Amino acid sequence: MSETEALKAKLLGEIETASDLDALEALRVAALGKAGSVTGLLKTLGGMTPEERQAEGPKIHSLREAVTAAIGARKAALEGAALDAKLAGERLDMTLPAAAAPRGSVHPVSQVMDELAEIFADMGFAVATGPEIEDDWRNFTALNIPETHPARAMHDTFYFPDTDAEGRAMLLRTHTSPVQIRTMMTQQPPIRIIAPGRVYRSDSDATHTPMFHQVEGLVIDRGIHMGHLKWTLETFLKAFFERDDIVLRLRPSYFPFTEPSAEVDVGYAHEKGRRIVGGNGDDDGHAWMELLGSGMVNRRVIANCGLDPDEWQGFAFGIGIDRLAMLKYGMDDLRAFFDGDLRWLAHYGFGALSVPTLSGGISA
Ligand code: PHE
Repeated sequence: MSETEALKAKLLGEIETASDLDALEALRVAALGKAGSVTGLLKTLGGMTPEERQAEGPKIHSLREAVTAAIGARKAALEGAALDAKLAGERLDMTLPAAAAPRGSVHPVSQVMDELAEIFADMGFAVATGPEIEDDWRNFTALNIPETHPARAMHDTFYFPDTDAEGRAMLLRTHTSPVQIRTMMTQQPPIRIIAPGRVYRSDSDATHTPMFHQVEGLVIDRGIHMGHLKWTLETFLKAFFERDDIVLRLRPSYFPFTEPSAEVDVGYAHEKGRRIVGGNGDDDGHAWMELLGSGMVNRRVIANCGLDPDEWQGFAFGIGIDRLAMLKYGMDDLRAFFDGDLRWLAHYGFGALSVPTLSGGISA
């Protein structure tokens, strides 16, 4: 066997058994590098006679090609094996239980809004929305709140310095009632909507924050009367508080946009220092709590929206969502709702996947 053939057999054997990529690279440098054994053989060609070169040249070149090809093949095999090993190590067993509890939770206000939408959807109500930046015509005038009404005073309402293009004063809506106007001006009756959202008033203590949440309800149809209002509220509150012994008391009241108007109280009892909604407020140990404002939509409001009040009647109500959440889930300081304290959210928050449904449980 010639020197070239012996070297070829040795190198191919070593390459074939190289255990990893580092060992293979060392072999490549030792054979094909500047001072490598194959490179050394190639250099000897220069000192040969033309006849010798004709005989040895092809052998040495084929040695270099064979070594290069063998290194390439071994490299591909080693890299393939390394990738297989990596993939095997990274394999995830999707049947294992989650290692940690999921983070993040649904805020009680969002939860209650979802509960409201679910309960009212079952009664045929759609969810409507309106902007938080309103004009004073929709927030006040169209709702029959005259210029002199105390709600218009600067200390209640956040006004913007500029008017809109039509010269109307702009403000942060002080209630969700302007959504009544927006709905009646864009939809033909019959109308059945709830409108949950943020409202703003310049007010702040343990039970008042400058921003809070309301849900508006509006029904416009033919022949609607107070009985429909009372049944709707009773049905809603029974579903919301998940008990049948909800007793309502309607007290005559005044709102410019409803006539007649009623404030609605709900009976409650004290249990373990908490107010628990339910029962008759006149019984021993029970009392009444004011829950919401409501009434038959004032015919002037219906006319302001371009509808004929002789044909269309309806009722409306407005409820504080934060107050509903506090009552149902037992929080006592409204300000904590908007602190963004992760410990409070972890305690009072709801799982993102526990969507309220009437069949599965409203607050499950
Ligand atoms: N908008 C009233 C408020 O914020 C509540 C209300 C709504 C009353 C609809 C009657 C009818 O106090």
